[in-house]
Amino acid sequence: MSLTNKVAIITGAARGIGLAIARRFAIDGAKVVIADVDDDAGEAAAEDLRAIGEALFIHCNVAERLDVRNLVAETLNAFGDIDILVNNAGIAVGADFLDLEEADFDRVLQVNLKGTFLCSQAVARHMVEKVEAGGEPGTIINMSSINAVLAIPGQVPYCVSKGGVAQLTKATALALAPHGIRVNAIGPGSIMTEMLASVNSDPAARARILSRTPMGRVGEPSEIAGVAAFLASGDASYVTGQTLYADGGRLPLNYTVAVPDAE
Ligand SMILES: NC(=O)c1ccc[n+]([C@@H]2O[C@H](COP(=O)([O-])OP(=O)(O)OC[C@H]3O[C@@H](n4cnc5c(N)ncnc54)[C@H](O)[C@@H]3O)[C@@H](O)[C@H]2O)c1
Repeated sequence: MSLTNKVAIITGAARGIGLAIARRFAIDGAKVVIADVDDDAGEAAAEDLRAIGEALFIHCNVAERLDVRNLVAETLNAFGDIDILVNNAGIAVGADFLDLEEADFDRVLQVNLKGTFLCSQAVARHMVEKVEAGGEPGTIINMSSINAVLAIPGQVPYCVSKGGVAQLTKATALALAPHGIRVNAIGPGSIMTEMLASVNSDPAARARILSRTPMGRVGEPSEIAGVAAFLASGDASYVTGQTLYADGGRLPLNYTVAVPDAE
């Protein structure tokens, strides 16, 4: 198992893509910490994963510095180390640009971008100390999106936050490369989770998504977990500062290429 005895924190892992990553990491041998604001779902997810391996839920709002400090302290207390951080927690607030509230803009940026920074800095401080004491360098994986480069007019703060995550990934990768710590991002396309559910239940919106997805289907959370497992493993030992897009072919799609009706 590629992650045997590694300690991994996954934020926003009470459900969706984060939970799929936590499950995959547990299957691959890691001890996993589920960090989320949803206590009930987070506790239930951890209980579920304890059938596979060691798993713990820790309440954490990634946008709150003190919560993040507590997440690191409690993880070290429970498992004595942190090898992998997955900054997956994310929210989206849809609004027409002209009506977008300042508070909603701030809220999305605070969770998606500032939360990624706060968790990365707090965990990187531990990882650098460990390297300086002769330990193995860890790795950080950020959850970006195809919306780092493709825009949705009704999702301005989300698109801005994910573009920011892509650049945060590159800058953090350069800052931590001298310590051997790798930092990468995943850019999912349309993945079947609660975040996508409202779009997916609208047939016209679903048809629009599929008409721009050459593979002709939405992705499963486990397909993003597979990418995370690769980036977290030694197989990615020379990969840093990258965003790996898993999008069924959406980003390469040009307007001259017809996508057949699917599903
Ligand atoms: N689903 C998709 O199609 C898709 C596509 C591209 C990128 N992503 C990204 O993948 C990540 C996960 O998305 P998902 O679809 O699984 O979403 P989801 O809404 O199903 O789950 C998100 C989880 O994050 C938690 N969360 C929200 N705010 C938090 C906070 N402040 N602190 C800690 N936890 C918090 C929620 O409680 C929830 O458990 C997000 O960053 C999202 O932007 C999703």
